[in-house]
Amino acid sequence: MLITFEGIDGAGKSTQIKKLTGYLSGRGIESLSLREPGGTETAEKIRRLLLDSSDEITPLGELLLFSASRAELVQRIIIPALAEGKTVILDRFFDSTTAYQGYGRGLDLEMLRSVIAISTCGLQPDITFFLDLDPETALKRKFSEKSIPIAFDPNELDRMERSGLDFYRKVRSGYIETIRHETGRFACIDALEAPDEIHRRITGVLENRFNL
Ligand code: TYD
Repeated sequence: MLITFEGIDGAGKSTQIKKLTGYLSGRGIESLSLREPGGTETAEKIRRLLLDSSDEITPLGELLLFSASRAELVQRIIIPALAEGKTVILDRFFDSTTAYQGYGRGLDLEMLRSVIAISTCGLQPDITFFLDLDPETALKRKFSEKSIPIAFDPNELDRMERSGLDFYRKVRSGYIETIRHETGRFACIDALEAPDEIHRRITGVLENRFNL
């Protein structure tokens, strides 16, 4: 079974994935927890290119790098793990591409669908948890994580940070738009809830839908 987590940066996916891994192992379910981009040596190198580089990358280049990393992870790790009967928990998958490169960067959604179909080998998650958070709160969380000592006020942001916030707004509406078209696969969770409550909801959904 393939479980994916989505949401804008700062929504609390990593915390929930840790809790879920613990929950599954407590029930004797073997799981493998992975993140995108990354997960193989090559994919981790691509991750560094995408996230640590100060070089400008075009939206198309960005899309193809994320997709190359995904193809590596899907073919080398995820498909074999699923074939062995493992439960795979994935921190981001192709919905991130739709939201970030499609709605955020403005790439054509039809073209994205083709690239996604190729890079995933057609693999679909059984369920996707979308942790929903408004971009202002998400950025505030990011600032405090990185100990940036500013009281967040959108009017105090510089131009870059402003464009950052606009970008995240587009990304969030991209997720919401995607979910509107494909309600069945998604479980939407309010990421403002306390972490234990979010975990309770996630396990509740898994129990209801999959008897886990
Ligand atoms: P990461 O540090 O893993 O962020 P997070 O903890 O929020 O998941 O960085 C991954 C970044 O890459 C994040 O900003 C989302 C972005 N991303 C895309 O733009 N497209 C994609 O297809 C994927 C998988 C991630």
